[in-house]
Amino acid sequence: MNPWDQRFSSEDYLFGTEPAAALVKLEPRLIAGGQTLVVADGEGRNSTFLAGKGYGVQATDYSEVGLVKAGKLATRMGVSVDYQLQNIFDVDWTAQQFDNVVAVFIQFVPPDAMRSVLSGLASALRPGGVLLLHGYTPEQVDLGTGGPSQREHMYTAGLLQEVYQDLSIEVCEEYRAEISEGRGHRGVSALIDFVGRKAE
Ligand SMILES: C[S@@+](CC[C@H](N)C(=O)[O-])C[C@H]1O[C@@H](n2cnc3c(N)ncnc32)[C@H](O)[C@@H]1O
Repeated sequence: MNPWDQRFSSEDYLFGTEPAAALVKLEPRLIAGGQTLVVADGEGRNSTFLAGKGYGVQATDYSEVGLVKAGKLATRMGVSVDYQLQNIFDVDWTAQQFDNVVAVFIQFVPPDAMRSVLSGLASALRPGGVLLLHGYTPEQVDLGTGGPSQREHMYTAGLLQEVYQDLSIEVCEEYRAEISEGRGHRGVSALIDFVGRKAE
C-alpha cells in the first residue's frame, strides 16, 4: 500500500475539508473560472473549493484512497471535479495547457526531482496562465507542526525566484502563521506563498 493510502485510510480528512488558508487568500489572483489543474490534491479540500467557485477543475494524486474521499467530498458539496490517479513524476507537463495550476503542500518531492517538477508545473500553463504554489520553508522542520522532516524538501523565496525567472512573479513571500488544517497541519508554521504569471 502506498504510504499516503495508509495516511488517508481513516474516516476523517487528514487536512480537513476546508481549503488551505493560503489558497483562500490567493484565489482572487487566479484566472477567474479558468481551467485549473490541482496537483497532489489528496482528499480534495482544495479542488472542491475551486470547483465551488466556478473553476473547471482537474485534480490529480497518486493515492487512490485520497481520490475516493475527494470524490465523496465533491458529491457532498454538489460540485464536479475531474479526478485522475497520477504519479507526479510521470507527468508529461506540456500535454495539456491550463489557465491555472495550483500546488499546495507538495513537499514529498525530493531535492533531485524538485526543479524538474517545479518547472513542469509552469510548463502546464497556457500563455498568460497563473501558477499558485504554497508550501513550507526549511524552518518548518524546527517547528514540527506538519510536513516532512527533511529541510531540503522545502522551498525558499530564492529558490522559487530562480526556478520561475521566466514568470512574472506577483507573490513570493516567506512568513510564519498559525494554521489549523485537520490533524495534518496544525500550529505555528513556516510558510511560503508564490504566484507567478506566464507571459502572453
Ligand atoms: C501533504 S499532502 C497534501 C494534499 C493536498 N495538496 C492538501 O493540501 O490537502 C501530499 C499529497 O501528495 C500526494 N503525493 C505523494 N506522492 C505523490 C506522487 N508521487 N504523485 C502524486 N501525488 C503524490 C499524496 O498522496 C498527498 O495527497
